[in-house]
Amino acid sequence: MNGVRTNYIVIMSSCFIFLLVYFSTPDQFANRLRSFPFGTGKYDKATQEPSIPVVKQSPVQNQSSPSIQTPSPETPAQEQYAPSIPNTQKKETTVEEFEPSNGTTEGFGPSLEKDEEPVQEQFRPSVQIPQDDIIHEQFQPSVPIPHKQEQLDGVKFFKKPSCDFSDVQFDLCDVEGDVRVHGKSSSVFSVTSLENYNSEANNETWSVRPHPRKYAAELMAQFREVQIKVADYAQVPKCDVIHNSAAVIFATGGFNGNYFHDFTDLIVPLFITSYRFKGEVQFLVSNAQVWFVLKYSGLLRKLSNYEILDFDKEERIHCYPRVIVGLSKHKDLIVEPSRAPNHISTVEFGHFARMAYSLERNTTTKLGEGSAKKPRLLIMARNHSRALMNREEIVPLIEALGFEVVIGNALFSMDVGEFARLVNSADVMMGVHGAGLTNFVFLPTNAVLIQIVPLGNYERTCQYDFGEPAVDMGLKYLQYSISEEESTLMDLYPINHPVFRDPESIHRQGWQTANGIYLGKQNVRLNFTRFRPILEKTLDLLRQ
Ligand SMILES: *[C@@H]1O[C@H](CO)[C@@H](O)[C@H](O)[C@H]1NC(C)=O
Ligand SMILES: *[C@@H]1O[C@H](CO)[C@@H](O)[C@H](O)[C@H]1NC(C)=O
Ligand SMILES: *[C@@H]1O[C@H](CO)[C@@H](O)[C@H](O)[C@H]1NC(C)=O
Ligand SMILES: *[C@@H]1O[C@H](CO)[C@@H](O)[C@H](O)[C@H]1NC(C)=O
Ligand SMILES: *[C@@H]1O[C@H](CO)[C@@H](O)[C@H](O)[C@H]1NC(C)=O
Ligand SMILES: *[C@@H]1O[C@H](CO)[C@@H](O)[C@H](O)[C@H]1NC(C)=O
Repeated sequence: MNGVRTNYIVIMSSCFIFLLVYFSTPDQFANRLRSFPFGTGKYDKATQEPSIPVVKQSPVQNQSSPSIQTPSPETPAQEQYAPSIPNTQKKETTVEEFEPSNGTTEGFGPSLEKDEEPVQEQFRPSVQIPQDDIIHEQFQPSVPIPHKQEQLDGVKFFKKPSCDFSDVQFDLCDVEGDVRVHGKSSSVFSVTSLENYNSEANNETWSVRPHPRKYAAELMAQFREVQIKVADYAQVPKCDVIHNSAAVIFATGGFNGNYFHDFTDLIVPLFITSYRFKGEVQFLVSNAQVWFVLKYSGLLRKLSNYEILDFDKEERIHCYPRVIVGLSKHKDLIVEPSRAPNHISTVEFGHFARMAYSLERNTTTKLGEGSAKKPRLLIMARNHSRALMNREEIVPLIEALGFEVVIGNALFSMDVGEFARLVNSADVMMGVHGAGLTNFVFLPTNAVLIQIVPLGNYERTCQYDFGEPAVDMGLKYLQYSISEEESTLMDLYPINHPVFRDPESIHRQGWQTANGIYLGKQNVRLNFTRFRPILEKTLDLLRQ
């Protein structure tokens, strides 16, 4: 395998441990699932077909639970959150809302993984929406019944679905014209005239699992295939709901639950795929995970003006002028202008992330200009592994160099908007390699990201996961590899152990073994004498 490809695979995950914990699904989560925030049958901006009044004024409205509707686009997400930029130093930022009651809540960082290891076998199917969902039992099954129908107004053309199966990470079909979606049967129809339909060239079907982790075949098996078919007017189901907006169909699950994966597998790909629609796009989520929609509602609401539908359960036929099945993904946390619609970039993603939470600072204030305010340095704390053991000791030393220090702990349960404000208030973010560093997306331009690399040959992974994307977003990046005496592995293994002498031999034993040791059992005691030049360099960068 070539380098890039290996790297994609290699980074795939160590988060299954986290996921196993997560998927033990505490009761409180099950309860949340029952009050699922999807489809309530209201379609603000969609016109409905007058001929079929059946499904629209559905009984759903009585059953839905408006109290956990995601915030409407008019309601800036942060209004619901407590004001948060801490004035006090070293404030711990944690919020209880999404915390499962048992087990670790902090994601394991992205990490090395050797290809075909049995992650997926241990993998539990993602959180399921209860099968006995009352909403849908009350619907008359709207099984697609052949129905003669005129061509939709304004959609006079037929264009063959444009599908791309060439990427190692994702498959994607872009379907334009008169497109009809039946979620429950996982079908997308590209409607055409009999004449076109009969041409062999158009009589094709395509199948897409709409989640950009294609190379993890066993992981992908949890996602339903969406079938895209060209169909004749005489054979396709009639529209129950006609939309003027586009739609994007994607699946949650996979490695979601790890903050890094949430962003690199879904949030950034969603941005790449749907930002061009300026909100005029509806999300249809397969394998829907409620917590994901709730946790990231602040971002999702800025991408889509419409309610999010639970694709797998949707019995109505939704008609759109354009439907994209699948998500485009570039390098991890990176938007490549050459491949992105409208040539957007990671810089635009940064703008978007800050805008979504109405963050104040676009860019850092240059040191030495204007105010005498100290640069603020945010230490990303970790609880369970890769913790900074001597934090109390080094904080005063960092302060003595002229920084104001704040501590943030990006627990799974955190409120993303609130944490984003803390991050955006900082000029420097520093932490040991781990998913929490994904929060760099909320830093102001020109801020400095300092990644501390634990022992175990993780330099390249660290660079790839966070260093390159941070630079691509307009940040400065410094990487610090710890020495043996700064690692708590010294307390566990003799100094001549292969753990120190030959990390590659440990990696050859499989990612589970290697990550179990280097990422799971290692904490860091910074040697400030050795680390100090990084902070001096940081001050230089802030002056530029
Ligand atoms: C449904 O809602 C309507 C009006 O909101 C109410 O009159 C009716 O009793 C409700 N039905 C049920 C079954 O709750
Ligand atoms: C948490 O785990 C403990 C032991 O594993 C169990 O006894 C307890 O019931 C669990 N609590 C919840 C809320 O799931
Ligand atoms: C189109 O596909 C259908 C079903 O796959 C098949 O029955 C039909 O013969 C095909 N028509 C042409 C023109 O290939
Ligand atoms: C930050 O940047 C965005 C996008 O370029 C712009 O709309 C906004 O006005 C800027 N905010 C400030 C405070 O400069
Ligand atoms: C996590 O760390 C914070 C402080 O850093 C501490 O207050 C809290 O008890 C820790 N939680 C666990 C589960 O260790
Ligand atoms: C800390 O680093 C300095 C500079 O590399 C080194 O001289 C010193 O021995 C280290 N201290 C410890 C306790 O290892």
